[in-house]
Amino acid sequence: MLDSLALAHQVPEDWRAQAEVFNELFFVFLVVGTLVGVVVVSYTLYNAYKNRDDGQGREEFDAPQLGELPTGQEGGKSSKLFLSFGLSAIIVISLVVYSYGLLLYVEQGPSGDVADEQNMEVDVTGIQFIWQYEYPNGVETTGTMRVPRGELIRLAVTSGDVWHNFGVPDLRVKTDAIPGEYSHTWFIANETGSYTIKCYELCGSGHSDMTGEIVVMEQEEFDEWYESAGANVTEESTPTPTPGGHGEASVSTVGDGSASAHRAGVAAR
Ligand code: CUA
Repeated sequence: MLDSLALAHQVPEDWRAQAEVFNELFFVFLVVGTLVGVVVVSYTLYNAYKNRDDGQGREEFDAPQLGELPTGQEGGKSSKLFLSFGLSAIIVISLVVYSYGLLLYVEQGPSGDVADEQNMEVDVTGIQFIWQYEYPNGVETTGTMRVPRGELIRLAVTSGDVWHNFGVPDLRVKTDAIPGEYSHTWFIANETGSYTIKCYELCGSGHSDMTGEIVVMEQEEFDEWYESAGANVTEESTPTPTPGGHGEASVSTVGDGSASAHRAGVAAR
């Protein structure tokens, strides 16, 4: 049991937090955009200078006429035209393919056997003007969501009244909270600490106060909290005497029936 817990803490290397993905996208677009901008602006300035009106009219200069489109038919011009269109196409298509791949990952989150087993799904409900969370073991909290560091947390977000939008800017997580349906998102927080949750849909007079907090804890610390909170759930809810007479209500009575999807190491026994 301890061994399996220790293994579970090792995050596969291809798991990347959304924040890392978005930072990389931003950096790549910044660098490529800056390079293209510098080349285009420099070349434009160079030509403006080279072809300036220096008072010595060039007789043979074949200036374009008003309304005439560049044909690119003649020698050097045609290769320049081809080069500029070709390069632009290559740059744009590469960026589209590259960012589309990353955005698919952001949509779906880490996949594979490890991701299917090692994750915790928390239900999030927005209600004017608070956020409520329900954990796989039935623990319900309001305002503060506690999660273990480095763990894949899947969120199923909904609303109990009007449209809200659940967002955690520092984790680059944001998704709709709509009554009657669940929006799915996920995050991995690699550092302990607290992250502010805000509502991003104008939902009434308390909208701007509809905040919350994600507290990222070390795994052991989290397990401790999770298990003691889970124990309180079984005490507070209607006691269900177990056939064995141990006085411990079975956790599955408050679970949502999808316990198999939750990481075994986290589930309270
Ligand atoms: Cu809830 Cu704005």
